[in-house]
Amino acid sequence: MKILVTGGTNGMGKGVAKVLAGIDNQIHEVILLCRSKELGESTIKEIENSTMKKKMSIILCDLAKLSDVRNAINEIQSKHKFLDCIFINAGLGYAAKRVETEDGMDSHFQVNYLSQFMLTLNLLNLLENSENGGRIIFNVTKGGKILWDDMQMKNVWSYESGIHQAMVAKRMFFVKLHDLYRDVKGSKLSFIGFEISKTVWSNQINIIPVFMKIMATIMKYFGTFISIEKCGVIMSPLFTEKQEESLKKSGEFITWKKNEFIEIKEDEIILNQEMQDRLWNASLQLCKDEKTTQIAENLYNYAK
Ligand SMILES: NC(=O)c1ccc[n+]([C@@H]2O[C@H](COP(=O)([O-])OP(=O)(O)OC[C@H]3O[C@@H](n4cnc5c(N)ncnc54)[C@H](OP(=O)(O)O)[C@@H]3O)[C@@H](O)[C@H]2O)c1
Repeated sequence: MKILVTGGTNGMGKGVAKVLAGIDNQIHEVILLCRSKELGESTIKEIENSTMKKKMSIILCDLAKLSDVRNAINEIQSKHKFLDCIFINAGLGYAAKRVETEDGMDSHFQVNYLSQFMLTLNLLNLLENSENGGRIIFNVTKGGKILWDDMQMKNVWSYESGIHQAMVAKRMFFVKLHDLYRDVKGSKLSFIGFEISKTVWSNQINIIPVFMKIMATIMKYFGTFISIEKCGVIMSPLFTEKQEESLKKSGEFITWKKNEFIEIKEDEIILNQEMQDRLWNASLQLCKDEKTTQIAENLYNYAK
């Protein structure tokens, strides 16, 4: 399998990359989409030291910049004829204050959702070329809402609302993609939303304020957290399982409990097609990218 991981230099993305690169008897190629060349290269070195496999590379992209996303799309398209999986994972967590990107958006909205909306639409053709049933796994969580009147959170901001809004947007997006592709004749693509049921001891621990770190460290001793490697082990079947199994899960919001993947009941608002279309159109307008709009229109027309 050839897997693109966004945010593979830390946390859940790194855990997944580590496990996939090291699975015995299967050669997986892992591409890390990351914002730091140094961190990308050191992550590859670290993973390669623990495995015999040497099929890893990086694509540089700061998801806070739409210009970077465009360049990354071009680079991936020129270097790769197909992709089997994408892990839509990169995301900002704790932040002390609102940061506006150079594209004029709230950074949580842009990094955690919009840039990856654009990336995904532009890489669908590579997934369609997969011989293993192309799939996208979205790292999502329950709850949250879209702040329709203040999506960029200029009036009221909190990092929690930013994270949750992006999660809702990602959930609406993958369900929309599933619905559109279900109507495309002969499609073998799957779109799956996955929520990890335990908190992962990720790089967030180095970013949060001291009092939160102390709380987390205490909770660690009560088994609240799992390691990034454990997270990778839990999630890896979603990337490696057979096409038929992946297709069965497509459109579902799932988690891992009692040693199996189980479906989570999705909120009505996420399944509301009017709301999905509203977000889809707002996202296209914010991307301001002709090619992305064209891809989205084609998808709608094929699916008719
Ligand atoms: N940890 C959990 O328990 C948990 C649970 C459910 C969902 N999640 C979600 O999982 C995702 C990953 O979180 P995590 O806990 O693993 O956090 P993390 O350890 O902080 O990792 C975040 C990853 O995203 C990358 N990233 C951040 N901003 C970026 C940007 N502008 N451009 C490109 N890459 C960027 C980071 O790159 P750098 O390495 O350069 O910082 C890092 O690789 C988030 O969406 C989070 O909301 C986490």
